[in-house]
Amino acid sequence: MINVRSIKSLVLAVFAGVTVFYFAQTHATAQKINTAEQLHLGSRLFSDDRFTSPNGDLPSSCSHCHLYKQDPQGTRAYTDFLARSWVPSRMTDQRREGIRNAPTVFDAGEMPRLHYDGEFGSLEELVKGTLSGRTLGWMPGEREQAFKQVYNVLLKDNAEGERAEMPYRDEFKKVYRVDLNALSTDQTIDLIADAVSAYVRSLKTKRDSPYDKFIQTNGLDTRPGRANPQKILPRG
Ligand code: HEC
Repeated sequence: MINVRSIKSLVLAVFAGVTVFYFAQTHATAQKINTAEQLHLGSRLFSDDRFTSPNGDLPSSCSHCHLYKQDPQGTRAYTDFLARSWVPSRMTDQRREGIRNAPTVFDAGEMPRLHYDGEFGSLEELVKGTLSGRTLGWMPGEREQAFKQVYNVLLKDNAEGERAEMPYRDEFKKVYRVDLNALSTDQTIDLIADAVSAYVRSLKTKRDSPYDKFIQTNGLDTRPGRANPQKILPRG
């Protein structure tokens, strides 16, 4: 028989259940992220070329252009060996070269704006723009398609690639305590941007070159000076 008392206990039980669930969730997100695990995930995403557009003619990833030790020609400080970086060519845009070569990403975490024209205001924005941009073979207007592909690669991954230790599903669970299947594409892309940005922020120079020592010894300002229009010489 359903009486008032059993309805009351049912309501109480549901309330208690919801409260416990809520606190468990909040606690899980508040738990501190293990930096080493996060950096491993970030570096793995940095060198994964499966996010490239299938309509391009070259595989591409951050580490294809921002090279460190992977090229037989020698080590680079996350730059490439080209005058202009190579981008995947598309039927609708058959260029091979980007607008310039890949600059170093050392100390990029401290830059107030990124890219030559200040296109991005944060590393997170840069990662999202690049994963869906021309450097990975995507055309303007294909952002959604690019993000779907990234999400699918993560879901289907079976610990592929040389930096892989476990499938992405397990690695995201370990680092962020999330189930990739339960996340939306956008939530997943936000976490990818977080992991890759953390990795890039960890790449720092020692600031011990003769130039750095000169600046430190003389207490000079390291910020760029204001342009003085009177010092710009007329052309010709
Ligand atoms: C096809 C080559 C290529 C790929 C792939 C590529 N980059 Fe770049 N990267 C460049 C070039 C070229 C620039 C300079 C663009 C500009 O200044 O307009 C750049 C600029 C940057 C900068 C800014 C440096 C500065 O001084 O402003 C960062 C940080 C960066 N890339 C990180 C990444 C990350 C992270 C990825 C992967 C998600 C990536 N790049 C993929 C070629 C590439």
